[in-house]
Amino acid sequence: MLSNLEILISENDIQTRVNELAKQISNDYKEKDLVMLCVLKGGVMFMADLAKQITVPLVMEFLVVSSYGNDTKSSGKVSVLNDLSGTIKGRDILIVEDIIDTGQTLNYLVQYLNTKEARTIKICTLLDKKEQRITNVNVDYIGFTVPNAFVVGYGLDYQQYYRNLPYIAVNNMISREES
Ligand code: IMP
Ligand code: MG
Repeated sequence: MLSNLEILISENDIQTRVNELAKQISNDYKEKDLVMLCVLKGGVMFMADLAKQITVPLVMEFLVVSSYGNDTKSSGKVSVLNDLSGTIKGRDILIVEDIIDTGQTLNYLVQYLNTKEARTIKICTLLDKKEQRITNVNVDYIGFTVPNAFVVGYGLDYQQYYRNLPYIAVNNMISREES
């Protein structure tokens, strides 16, 4: 368990930003065939809250991608553990992710989805850890930019725990040891 958790982004601030992003997305996808693709497990809270505020027709898909194992640093090895249930050919995919760190997960995922002939692929991430980027990714919607520290809550985990926190918290011990 983590001992030094501090709130980095409050529940209120998350909800305000989610509403803003939902308005923007509703506007951008008016004439589209929106498929919101949640990257599990981290994207689950964000996806649920975002989808509830979007006003255009949409379908929800879920994909399991693994890159971290149980560590706090990216392994660089990405794999799709659980494939899509519906077809995305010719449709407008919006990938919904919890956080972009090195960029390797999304880079891999976009390449993977390109083979499935989606019409458009855009990315919506709640958090962006810009400083850590190794692979370039074009991110279309960003909730918040965060510093290079290990964060948990609102979908994000540490050894599978803390995903249920309604806010984003930062662990000071971990960020000092590992950065
Ligand atoms: P990337 O491939 O390095 O961009 O890693 C992205 C994935 O690593 C995210 O989808 C998260 O699941 C996980 N991740 C990256 N940073 C954090 C963090 O600070 N807390 C929890 N999970 C993280
Ligand atoms: Mg993730």
